[in-house]
Amino acid sequence: MQQPKRYLITAALPYANGLKHIGHLAGAYLPADIYVRYLKSQQRDVVFVCGSDEHGTAIPIQATKEGTTAQAIIDKYHPLVEQNFRDLGIQFDIYHRTSAPIHHETARDFFTQLNNAGHLTTQTSEQFFDEKAQTFLADRYIKGTCPNCQFTGAYGDQCEKCGKSVSPEELINPVSTLSGEPPVKKMTQHWYLPLDRHEDFLRKWILEEHANDWRASVVGQCKSWIDGGLQPRAVTRDLDWGVALPENVEGGKGKVLYVWFDAPIGYISATKQWAIDNGKDWKPYWEDKETRLIHFIGKDNIVFHCIIFPVMLQLHGNILPDNVPANEFLNLEGDKMSTSRNWKLDMEDYINDFIKAPGGNEIMADVMRYYLTQIAPETKDSEFTWKGFQVANYSELVAILGNFVNRSLVLMHKLCKGKVPPLHPDQLTDADREMLAAFDATRKTVEEHLEQFKFRDALFQIIAFDRSGNQLLQKKEPWIFA
Ligand code: 2FM
Ligand code: ZN
Repeated sequence: MQQPKRYLITAALPYANGLKHIGHLAGAYLPADIYVRYLKSQQRDVVFVCGSDEHGTAIPIQATKEGTTAQAIIDKYHPLVEQNFRDLGIQFDIYHRTSAPIHHETARDFFTQLNNAGHLTTQTSEQFFDEKAQTFLADRYIKGTCPNCQFTGAYGDQCEKCGKSVSPEELINPVSTLSGEPPVKKMTQHWYLPLDRHEDFLRKWILEEHANDWRASVVGQCKSWIDGGLQPRAVTRDLDWGVALPENVEGGKGKVLYVWFDAPIGYISATKQWAIDNGKDWKPYWEDKETRLIHFIGKDNIVFHCIIFPVMLQLHGNILPDNVPANEFLNLEGDKMSTSRNWKLDMEDYINDFIKAPGGNEIMADVMRYYLTQIAPETKDSEFTWKGFQVANYSELVAILGNFVNRSLVLMHKLCKGKVPPLHPDQLTDADREMLAAFDATRKTVEEHLEQFKFRDALFQIIAFDRSGNQLLQKKEPWIFA
């Protein structure tokens, strides 16, 4: 494949309402960071953007529960999560925020451009309204009895007891979580992105053009969305937390952009801020066809990054992602990681216990990165176990890779005054020649794997090479000259 002029690499913007766990790290941030380090090691032009996703209904709901404000929550978690990433060696070029004014402006302008060009439609429908609190209610703000398991505390989008998706209409005896009163229905207007108009484009672009270079699971998920029939998606909400609609939009008062409309635009506003900070031009990264745009995400974000955002980008005149290497999920000791069930290993806890605690060491960031790459959930869900972590560390990282590198460096210092000695082809044994050929072949294969987002395979190749390196050292025993 021909090399592009520049790369724009994004990693899913995490919600800034809590700590992130190692499943998140393995899902998007670590593979993105490996890819970026590889590109940068080749002096390619790369910008790696990420940041906090600070809108949506979940954050104000959490604030109400915790007796605080949405602003206080995001101001607490934004720097914490950013620092956790830094402590684990994730080297973003910018870690931005969707609460930043430049983001609000960028998202609003994006909406305006699409709306003025007739790419959005409006629809008026009945929504639940809390008369006491004088506000429309997002599904999450309605509670009632689950029609499936009779749990009395089910939310209007999902019952947390039985896990079933429900709609507020299905709840028995629904009440508003704001006032405790039963909600009423009221008419309200919203703006929609008519995805149904773009089925042909999506079929051709994903199912034909990217049928072979995107992961099968990503193409498969897109296919079932498209085959299931694309519907217009509401891109606005009646809420007071988020990016307000432009003032000149008739009927837009009191409404904000839907969080999944503004969040991916966060990649663009982050690039703009990065350009301001570094005296660069952001536009070619989003407008020039010679840019390769790659979104690193977990599989729960596929529809937004492969269907909805690309439609928005295309209508807005931006480039499309070249690949969206979504990972599957990482389980923990036999069970799905879950924040609500508190079954997870937070990055923060790992950092505190293994890196920052007395006796801890920053090298432990690499140990975690190594193990998470070795078990990367690239093609199917995978499993983190502490036993596996231990074995990967002792039997591979230390015994194979560390041992090979350490022995080579020590011997080079002892025998060759610390410099790689010149090769004398006439003095090479067959085993030496084989090793040199294996080195070139390994480098080539590793690069091919990295280009194709196969980070596990790249790591296996490196370990296999180190293993043969150790065998060669064992056979030649150069230490007898030391
Ligand atoms: O799933 C999540 O954590 C979302 N906050 C990801 C957003 S990615 C992008 F669109 F910003
Ligand atoms: Zn239930």
